[in-house]
Amino acid sequence: MDVGCGMAHLLYELTQVVPGMIVNGIDISQYALEHAKEEIRDRLQYGQAQNIPFDDDEFDLVISLATLHNLKIYDLKKAVQEIERVSKGKSYIMVESFRNDREEVNMLYWQLTCASYYAVDEWEWLYKEWGYTGDYSFIFFEDGK
Ligand SMILES: C[S@@+](CC[C@H](N)C(=O)[O-])C[C@H]1O[C@@H](n2cnc3c(N)ncnc32)[C@H](O)[C@@H]1O
Repeated sequence: MDVGCGMAHLLYELTQVVPGMIVNGIDISQYALEHAKEEIRDRLQYGQAQNIPFDDDEFDLVISLATLHNLKIYDLKKAVQEIERVSKGKSYIMVESFRNDREEVNMLYWQLTCASYYAVDEWEWLYKEWGYTGDYSFIFFEDGK
């Protein structure tokens, strides 16, 4: 399950390298869902990260890449707990963050859709506070990149 799958390029690639793998994706962008590759389109559906339309423990792996920082804190909490709920135990979240003042400024300038601006230690605190047990990583707006 890819939460915020966009046009689902990653899910498509996964089905190519792991034949037989069953994938699902949700996104709130009808444009992205409609413009995903035809081979995978029927595996995608409209769905909000903060209300994932699947049962508890439904997926072997849940990922969410470059999506959750777009949510405001009250939806972010729900989304993190939803990912935990629908996963059998393995999950991976990647969001944009910052490690210093420069990267924070870069993020404020360049990340137009961000609603949750948190430093790495704050994200880690939130994950722990909300009971998230999966893996995670961050990307940063470094100078000159
Ligand atoms: C930067 S794109 C990342 C797409 C894809 N995960 C990738 O890494 O290429 C962020 C995606 O999150 C989706 N999104 C934003 N808020 C969402 C929400 N509340 N629930 C589900 N998807 C959401 C957007 O529509 C967009 O497709």
